[in-house]
Amino acid sequence: MIDRMSCGLMPDKPHTVLRAPDGAILYEEMLTRGGFSGAFSYLYHRYPTTPATDVTPSARGHVIASVDENGRTPLKRRLYDTRKMTKGGMPFECRLPLLFNSDLTIYFACPTEGDDVYFANGDGDELWYVQEGSGRLESVCGWLPVTEGDYVWVPRSLIHRWHLDKPMRMIGFEAHGDVVVPKDFRNPIGQLKMDAPYTHRDFVRPEGPIATTSAVQDGPRELIVKKGGRFTRIGLERPPMDVVGWEGFVYPWAFAITKYQPKTGLVHLPPTIHSTFAGPGFLVCSFVPRLTDTHPQAIPCPYPHSSVDCDEVILYLRGNFTSRRGVGPGAISLHPAGIAHGPHPGAYEASIGSTRTDELAVMVDTFKPLLPTAQAVNLEDGAYHDSWRTPAGQG
Ligand SMILES: [Fe+2]
Repeated sequence: MIDRMSCGLMPDKPHTVLRAPDGAILYEEMLTRGGFSGAFSYLYHRYPTTPATDVTPSARGHVIASVDENGRTPLKRRLYDTRKMTKGGMPFECRLPLLFNSDLTIYFACPTEGDDVYFANGDGDELWYVQEGSGRLESVCGWLPVTEGDYVWVPRSLIHRWHLDKPMRMIGFEAHGDVVVPKDFRNPIGQLKMDAPYTHRDFVRPEGPIATTSAVQDGPRELIVKKGGRFTRIGLERPPMDVVGWEGFVYPWAFAITKYQPKTGLVHLPPTIHSTFAGPGFLVCSFVPRLTDTHPQAIPCPYPHSSVDCDEVILYLRGNFTSRRGVGPGAISLHPAGIAHGPHPGAYEASIGSTRTDELAVMVDTFKPLLPTAQAVNLEDGAYHDSWRTPAGQG
């Protein structure tokens, strides 16, 4: 929900008659958030939205998160290597839950083909980060091009499907509340402030509308809806991509992490200066290449910290992460609240005098503890916690 957008046909006044050139009436749909009090979009369909041929429980869907107690105790630093994941499948089906709490589920997916059905996730907004690959998101709002390095926001319950140009590797955050721009980035009228780390122009919007009054976008006659962790299959009389115009704040977008403007201070600034997107119970941060601190005695490496309220998850993407060693692209670390964490031995000292960092990483802090799934346990590097031990002879 960045700002207002509109495209295609719509009547001068909402909730009034709109007709196609042949005289047929068009059908308005309101996509609303927060009941009827939050952000919303008006969608104008060529045909009624409700006809379905059949509604049944779906045999298709993705794995639903459940805790694996073996991955939960003892309380320690953990590392999951997503490079061990088997590639294949469609985005709506092949995503695997790794960590979750009541606010957020973190997935990783390695799809090699596009969705052959439409999908609508009634359980939450989806925020994806595309580590590798490219494609397009087809939705009732239009076509959204997506490429490596993009965050992609898919609003709750939006009917969509992914098309892949190249196989993807992607981390996904399913938020059970909204995913929003942190409110500190906006001025009182909602415009992104000049000191925000991105501008309105940095967001890529859907190319729409996806249909005209004489030609709807053809596609599957099958919609999978997820709600309450259960999947329902809805057979459709027609493809749902018949929106000839829309207006509002609820639409999918893409944001390239390379457009994130980092900040540098006199001395080390806390992780919150990397804030990118937020939601109830979590904060997503972007670590991008940047100059480091300017004080002649600065220690650029993060100080050890006991952030007692947060679990911290980092997906490593590129470059040497200042505070860690032995982690490569695709590794995901979990540093849980309750125990202090900090740089690997030697990293703190080695950072003194450095002037820039080339690290690229996505972090999420959650305020409730994250629970690991069996899918995460399968990817775990059991030696990670002990990698903080002082090397023999250096203690
Ligand atoms: Fe940390």
